[in-house]
Amino acid sequence: MKVGVIGGTGGQGLGISIRFVQAGEDVIIGSRTVDKAEAAVVKIKEVLPGAMNVRAMNNQDAAHEADVLVLTVPLAAQKEILLSIKEEARGKPLLDATIPLESAIGGSATKCLYLPEGSAAQRAQALLPEAKVICAFNNISKSWWMVIDEPIDCDCLICGDDEDAKAMVTPLIEKVPGLRVIDCGPLERASIIEKITPLLIGLNIRNRCQFGGIRITGLDKGKIC
Ligand SMILES: NC(=O)c1ccc[n+]([C@@H]2O[C@H](COP(=O)([O-])OP(=O)(O)OC[C@H]3O[C@@H](n4cnc5c(N)ncnc54)[C@H](OP(=O)(O)O)[C@@H]3O)[C@@H](O)[C@H]2O)c1
Repeated sequence: MKVGVIGGTGGQGLGISIRFVQAGEDVIIGSRTVDKAEAAVVKIKEVLPGAMNVRAMNNQDAAHEADVLVLTVPLAAQKEILLSIKEEARGKPLLDATIPLESAIGGSATKCLYLPEGSAAQRAQALLPEAKVICAFNNISKSWWMVIDEPIDCDCLICGDDEDAKAMVTPLIEKVPGLRVIDCGPLERASIIEKITPLLIGLNIRNRCQFGGIRITGLDKGKIC
């Protein structure tokens, strides 16, 4: 599976890319400028010496070449970047990590903005109706991705309206040691998933740490027939 990380040069995208490269996936780092994507590839090869399964492209070429897309750009850039890959993303799973934090427009990082679509992921789906948008990675801090010798002690809550797309990306995400995918249902659940992140940021601040995450318990216990 070829994974194209759109905005793969930033904190979250670089971390996700490193973990997928480490897991043996074919990763394409997308950027608005190829030079910046190439610099990110150099960084990944410093962390994972000898890695051959990572390449640099501009966002459009990365989206065209990849089978699965990951979007890791700031909220303020989400619309512009998505529209720039609209054709290339058609029919493909698109894992959107965007969180509508108030801090995206200069406010608090412990509160979410109101978006008329309901969530950033629903906004992505409205902008790219022919992509299979899945809300993912929102509740996993960029710090976790970088600790490459440790499993990530977090669940990855996902939601989306295309069941096949979710079934396709679940084993991919779970190639990252420690991550367990929890399918939370349709894309409208993104409004809840995205709001967990400001809670985690607040907990990180209160506890002076950067690894606050979430695990869901009890889903396998006492099955009701
Ligand atoms: N950081 C976290 O721990 C974390 C956790 C969960 C979710 N998220 C979400 O993941 C997304 C990315 O977070 P991040 O911390 O990786 O963000 P970031 O480092 O600020 O930006 C990521 C990349 O977005 C691209 N970009 C495109 N248009 C941009 C613009 N107008 N201004 C600035 N950058 C632009 C840049 O890549 P090029 O310049 O190469 O195009 C940049 O390297 C956000 O929506 C965030 O809410 C972050």
